[in-house]
Amino acid sequence: MRTYIVLLGPPGAGKGTQAKLIAEKLGLAHISSGDIFRENLKAQTELGQKAQGYMNRGELVPDDLTIAMIQDRLSRPDCEGGALLDGFPRTAEQANALSKMLLELGGKVKVVPCILVPAEVLIERLGGRWSCRAAGHVFHIKYNPPKVAGVCDMDGSELYQREDDKSETVARRIQVYEAQTAPLIDFYKKQNLLVEVDGTQEIHLVTEQILAAIAKAG
Ligand code: AP5
Repeated sequence: MRTYIVLLGPPGAGKGTQAKLIAEKLGLAHISSGDIFRENLKAQTELGQKAQGYMNRGELVPDDLTIAMIQDRLSRPDCEGGALLDGFPRTAEQANALSKMLLELGGKVKVVPCILVPAEVLIERLGGRWSCRAAGHVFHIKYNPPKVAGVCDMDGSELYQREDDKSETVARRIQVYEAQTAPLIDFYKKQNLLVEVDGTQEIHLVTEQILAAIAKAG
């Protein structure tokens, strides 16, 4: 059966950082809904134009657009072995749609590591985050600095600060997470899929805890 893993957690918890490391280690496709929206924004596609206002305000892109985008992404050949989902689902409607999609693909969610980090730490992390233009590799000015300031260690592309990492937008994103996404913790707890992960540890320790949760899930 295909392996599908959902990484949950508030904005800035470290989902993207961990998803890249874990997907590579396990040979899974990494599906980041935020990265797909940002690629569409950069290319000024119709989807990107529709998503832009919501993203800049720190709100969620409507479910119908988001679900269709993920359905299309999951049907691609690189997801044949399964996928690690980072940033999706984020609402009850998205979670139900994902269960249906995976059933059709002959799989189901295997485990849901939820990275927990207090709000004051999230604000500091997002304020110091730098992302690479080419592939979205993520750094932090203090906790995970690039070797050369402003340049991605992995692909040499320019590092930039995301538009939605301004302090007022970060505050809105955290509110939106609490109201619309945090209820998924209970949704997945009821299915015995949720594993809480302490996201305040060093990056490599968080990775180890997530890998252990995945291994335990079988
Ligand atoms: P998205 O891109 O998914 O943003 P997010 O969920 O807010 O998450 P982030 O990317 O901000 O944080 P992260 O948890 O990945 O942390 P990271 O690893 O970068 O979504 C953006 C927008 O797109 C949404 O607001 C919405 O508009 C739209 N969208 C996306 N998905 C959607 C959906 N499903 N439905 C509707 N709309 C959707 O780490 C953060 C920083 O901390 C980095 O600098 C990193 O180096 C550092 N760091 C990481 N781990 C550690 C650690 N252990 N210790 C110290 N520093 C660390």
